[in-house]
Amino acid sequence: MSAIMRAVRGHRRGGPEQLRYEVAPKPDPGSGEVLVAVRAASITAGELGWDATWTDRFDGTGTPRVPIVPSKEVSGVVAELGQEAEGFAVGDAVYGLIPFLRDGAAAEYTTIPAEVLAAKPPSLNHQQAAALPLAGLTAWQGLVGHGGLTRGQRVLVHGGAGGVGSFVVQVAAALGATVAATAAGADEEFVRGLGASQVIDFTTRRFEDEVKDVDLVFDTVGGDSQSRSWQVLRPGGALVSIVAPPVVPERSAARAVFFVVEPDRAGLEELTALVESGRLTPRIDRTVPLAEAPLAYAALEREHRRGKIVLQVS
Ligand SMILES: NC(=O)c1ccc[n+]([C@@H]2O[C@H](COP(=O)([O-])OP(=O)(O)OC[C@H]3O[C@@H](n4cnc5c(N)ncnc54)[C@H](OP(=O)(O)O)[C@@H]3O)[C@@H](O)[C@H]2O)c1
Repeated sequence: MSAIMRAVRGHRRGGPEQLRYEVAPKPDPGSGEVLVAVRAASITAGELGWDATWTDRFDGTGTPRVPIVPSKEVSGVVAELGQEAEGFAVGDAVYGLIPFLRDGAAAEYTTIPAEVLAAKPPSLNHQQAAALPLAGLTAWQGLVGHGGLTRGQRVLVHGGAGGVGSFVVQVAAALGATVAATAAGADEEFVRGLGASQVIDFTTRRFEDEVKDVDLVFDTVGGDSQSRSWQVLRPGGALVSIVAPPVVPERSAARAVFFVVEPDRAGLEELTALVESGRLTPRIDRTVPLAEAPLAYAALEREHRRGKIVLQVS
């Protein structure tokens, strides 16, 4: 009989109600892959709605690949190396963003291409490290790669208290930007503590009355917040969204970017450097046992949080 493990799996496309904590086959690492004994994993709002979570394509035209294991962020220990997997040894502590068209980390074991793994930041425990890859890389790639952020620029972050927004605020501040953020009023002190010098309560105030000449708007909210952002951008500024492609108004002199985060070892190493220099701390709303992952995904859809929800695997 092949080896088995405990895992959370979805057998039919849907929401948290489709997830089951059950026994599953333990995966084998393929060529260039590493088998990771998962210590902690973390979960993202909207993940169970993505085509990539349930099919072999990103765009709604794919073939189902059920049963699936959700959760794309892992921190753990190398348990086995596939052929030609280089750069790691059994026992190394590692973390990473699992490519979206593969099974995730809500399980005792997962496989991941060695080329997208990085050494776990030494000062973080596994739960903290698991909270970093997806949201941290989204912040890094959006600000630096897509937004072209440079020291001294002005950034407005929509959703500064959220899973991704809490990283965007910290990374932008660490890179020398002046950061304003929208957040619920109760989150003001939390978001200031992340490095924002101005926090605008989106429930009572309009950000366009309070900020202007912004170099980069980072949108983690979409909708009305996104479409009103053109008013605050300077000519040549950038609206970077991770929610939906922005529609550029006819006479706008700003540019729009929509992107999907990519697994990226170099980006993880940049995040590790920020962590180890004390300028980036993953914010964890709470940690729950792996068996409670279905409840945690349900909570993502309805509860207010500060930072990420992490699954404790072992
Ligand atoms: N494209 C990509 O690569 C990528 C990567 C990661 C995530 N995403 C997507 O990005 C979105 C955000 O993810 P997340 O994990 O950061 O979600 P999250 O943890 O739910 O954070 C969203 C934050 O926005 C706040 N918010 C809600 N309405 C707002 C408004 N009108 N103005 C300002 N803030 C508002 C929420 O506050 P309350 O809690 O008070 O409502 C919450 O703090 C999700 O749709 C996710 O799927 C995309």
